[in-house]
Amino acid sequence: MDFSIFFSHASLLLVAACLLPNPILVGSIGVNYGQIADNLPPPEDVVPLVKSIGATKVKLYDANPRVLDAFANTGIEFMVGLGNEYLDKMRDPAKAQAWVKQNVQSHLPATNITSIFVGNEVLTLDDSSLSDDLLPAMQSVHAALVSLGLDKQVTVTTTHSLAILQTSYPPSAGSFRVDLMDCLSQTLSFHQKTGSAFLINAYPYFAYKSNPKQVPLDFVLFQPNQGVTDPGTNLHYDNMLYAQIDAVYSALASLGYNKLPVQISETGWPSKGDEDEAGATPENAKKYNGNLIKLMSGKTGTPMRPNSDLNIYIFALFNENLKPGPTSERNYGLFKPDGTPAYALGISGINVVDGGSAGNGVTTPSYSTGSSTDYLSISSARGRRQLSGHMLLMAPLFEEAYNRYGYKENKTAASLLGKIKGVRFGD
Ligand SMILES: *[C@@H]1O[C@H](CO)[C@@H](O)[C@H](O)[C@H]1NC(C)=O
Ligand SMILES: *[C@@H]1O[C@H](CO)[C@@H](O)[C@H](O)[C@H]1NC(C)=O
Repeated sequence: MDFSIFFSHASLLLVAACLLPNPILVGSIGVNYGQIADNLPPPEDVVPLVKSIGATKVKLYDANPRVLDAFANTGIEFMVGLGNEYLDKMRDPAKAQAWVKQNVQSHLPATNITSIFVGNEVLTLDDSSLSDDLLPAMQSVHAALVSLGLDKQVTVTTTHSLAILQTSYPPSAGSFRVDLMDCLSQTLSFHQKTGSAFLINAYPYFAYKSNPKQVPLDFVLFQPNQGVTDPGTNLHYDNMLYAQIDAVYSALASLGYNKLPVQISETGWPSKGDEDEAGATPENAKKYNGNLIKLMSGKTGTPMRPNSDLNIYIFALFNENLKPGPTSERNYGLFKPDGTPAYALGISGINVVDGGSAGNGVTTPSYSTGSSTDYLSISSARGRRQLSGHMLLMAPLFEEAYNRYGYKENKTAASLLGKIKGVRFGD
């Protein structure tokens, strides 16, 4: 369905908006509006695209005034970002105040900016000067908001990679990396004092990509499957994202932060990848993102926190042609740069997750697929279960490390991480 030869750019965007099924009004679906590309439509044309997927929140990696102006009076909520390159500067209260005035205050109230994330995945970059800057930068940005009288409506936070976890399986055993504990506990106390959320980027895709033979595709794509039971709590998990989120809740609880709100600041699935990137197809991306949106519209929390409101930001709005790395990196978009859907999301379709949703977000699987046999036979052996489960959910950490430090070829990064985790993942 390529209409591009028939329509002009502007009408294309309209067509795109109509092609997508009726917008579902979901409470807390957000989308990451990344712009590492040279071919994206002007922000004014992006407003209908965001609305067409039912998103009510947008996360920006900067505070691009053209975007913030284009979304004025749309009712869309914004999280703006201060990149890692700003952290050092933001320690200076005067500079933080100038930044907040120019990039946040000037857009309020027309554009509803509700939070600022200061730094992206800083703690897992193994850059101690950046880590040292994190809390002071967050504090001075918050102090600037206080002095401008904006701290009640705008919160200050930062995003973390799932690699901050030492243990992620079973979810009830979730814990943070010991070497990050000092830094983390200071930011946690900041969150609690200022009422901001703890943000985590979580990609079940990485787990699948690094271990496609062992990780059942249905478990990562929110399709009906047998799932796994956490032996510590007896809670049943039928999708990996919820298991990852609950591991974060457990890690927070172990430090006494039982009430801290958690948001998923990035998650998604690429529609295209390199030959060695298993699972990066339009069909899988459609299942992951479509099923996720459907799940969110039911307002279900995770097995551990069935009643908490999950805020999830899908990564990403557009395919971004200038992102470095493997092909998948440039293909996370729900939309192509011309505004047409990268694939049909099918969010109003019928054949999306229908394995029988039983109340609190726990889907009762009606059958098990052949592809999960390997996995289930391993996980049913109690002794090995912990190990395989642990490694299964650790996989994203390694994958992300590879991505961040120069991809699979980078053995230095791989062994460095292997050392930190005390686990060595096979090549
Ligand atoms: C901005 O978003 C917050 C949080 O959803 C909401 O409470 C507030 O009413 C919104 N403000 C405006 C001006 O729309
Ligand atoms: C590989 O990883 C190391 C360790 O993090 C990093 O310093 C180096 O720049 C990376 N090399 C490449 C080619 O990306």
